[in-house]
Parts: sequence; structure tokens; C-alpha cells
Amino acid sequence: MRSTKRLPRIVVLTGAGVSRESGLATFRDAGGAWQQVRMEDVATPEGFRRDPGRVHAFYNARRAQLDAVAPNAAHLALAALEREWVARGGAFLLVTQNVDDLHTRAGSALLLQMHGALRRARCLRCGQSFDWQGDTAVDSVCPRCRRAGGVRPDIVWFGEVPMHLEAIGEALEGCGLFVSIGTSGSVYPAAGFVAGVRGRAHTVELNLEPSDGAALFDEARHGPATLVVPEYVAGLLERFG
Ligand code: APR
Repeated sequence: MRSTKRLPRIVVLTGAGVSRESGLATFRDAGGAWQQVRMEDVATPEGFRRDPGRVHAFYNARRAQLDAVAPNAAHLALAALEREWVARGGAFLLVTQNVDDLHTRAGSALLLQMHGALRRARCLRCGQSFDWQGDTAVDSVCPRCRRAGGVRPDIVWFGEVPMHLEAIGEALEGCGLFVSIGTSGSVYPAAGFVAGVRGRAHTVELNLEPSDGAALFDEARHGPATLVVPEYVAGLLERFG
């Protein structure tokens, strides 16, 4: 028996915690990326100007790791939720801060990567961005303008404007259910999304532990994403079955 309940528009936000159990490090947990290298050196335009080779090496290592990891049950549950929700006539958007390709490989299609993607690069000479599979280097040639020396990772660094903010703002404007997964809630503008929808949308945090913004959520389930996300998705589909 199909529910006649109107389906709320869902916006899901994910962070590095959703990929942790696939084997990718987070940033701020013990052993996270920002305990191995200084973000100022590898995730800012100034760091890239100072030592582009070091920045290329940091992202080359992270890009190479993608071949050794696979989507986990949380990625798969979110892709299934998208398919099911749309099939029932609902609106859905997955916004990720992650630059890995695991949501895409899990089958998520209604997906915006607001901090860019490891498997893309951008040319500082012609401004174009494009798929990029191998290493980038200081002498990489742009496949569009054919000039060397201007290729950089298509990643949003600190101090740069995240991608797709207009589309994300529109989706948040109309959302009835906001679910934040695997993020510490410490980097804006993503960390501010929940405050923007509170009162209009039911807000849920699915995270290993309470995030910096935990108090802003109506509901929270704490535990590893591969347990709490599939469970939450199953309950949601049951409720709006
Ligand atoms: N399941 C669920 N949550 C987890 C798991 C797990 N297995 N492991 C860790 N977490 C949670 C942590 O408790 C933490 O709240 O994931 C969160 C990871 O937080 P961060 O390391 O800060 O990563 P994130 O929130 O994605 O960082 C945001 O900061 O450095 C920039 O651009 C980078 O996109 C990144 C942004």
C-alpha cells in the first residue's frame, strides 16, 4: 500500500566520515589528513604558489588511493534512497564535501561535489576543467588549450568559493528533510546548511559522534556510517512506504 503522504524534498550532506570505512582517512580525526600535512601547505592557493610540486604530490597520492577502495554500505544505501525516492515522485539531492568518487561509483546521480573532485583537473591558462585520471604535475599539458604549466587539481581550497552553491541553496530552500552524515560541521558554508533549514526542515545527524553542530539537529544517531545510514534509510522508506 503506497503512502499518500507527500514526500518531503530530501537534501543529504556528506563529509569524510562516510568514506572512512572504505579506507579513506578523514581530516580531523586521530590520524586524519591534517595531522599528516599542514592544510596551509596543500589546500590553499598560497600553498600551491609556494610549492606546486608538493600540492600535486598530495593529491596524486589521494587520487591513486581511489583505485584501492570501494563504496561502502553507507554510499550504497544513499544511492538506493535516491533511486527509491525519485521513483516515488520525491525530490532528492546529495551534496558532498568529499572529493573521492565513491558516491558516484555507488550509483548516486543526483550529486553535487561542492569541494571539487580528485578525478578532475583545471587549467589556470584557459580556465577549463576536465576529467583527469593519472598524476598531475607542474609540467602537465592542458587537454583543452594544449599549454603546459597551468594544470591544477580541480579541488576547492581554503579561501576559494565552493562549487554549485546556487543549486545547493535552491535545494535547501525547498527541503523538508536535511540529513548530515560523516562531517564534523567545522567548515563553512557546509557547516551552516543546518542552521539555514532549521524550523523548515526536519534535521538529522548521522555521525560517529556528535559533531560541532550537533545541538542544531532535531534528531541524531551516532555510530559508524555503514551501520547507521542503511538503518536510517530503511526506516525512512518504511515510513513513507
Ligand atoms: N562513520 C560516521 N562518521 C564518521 C566515521 C564513520 N566511520 N568516522 C569518522 N566520522 C566522523 C567524525 O566523527 C567527524 O565528525 O566524520 C567526521 C569527519 O570530520 P572531518 O575529518 O572534519 O571531515 P569533514 O567534515 O568532511 O571536513 C570538511 O574540511 O578539510 C576540509 O575540504 C575538507 O571537505 C573537507 C572539509
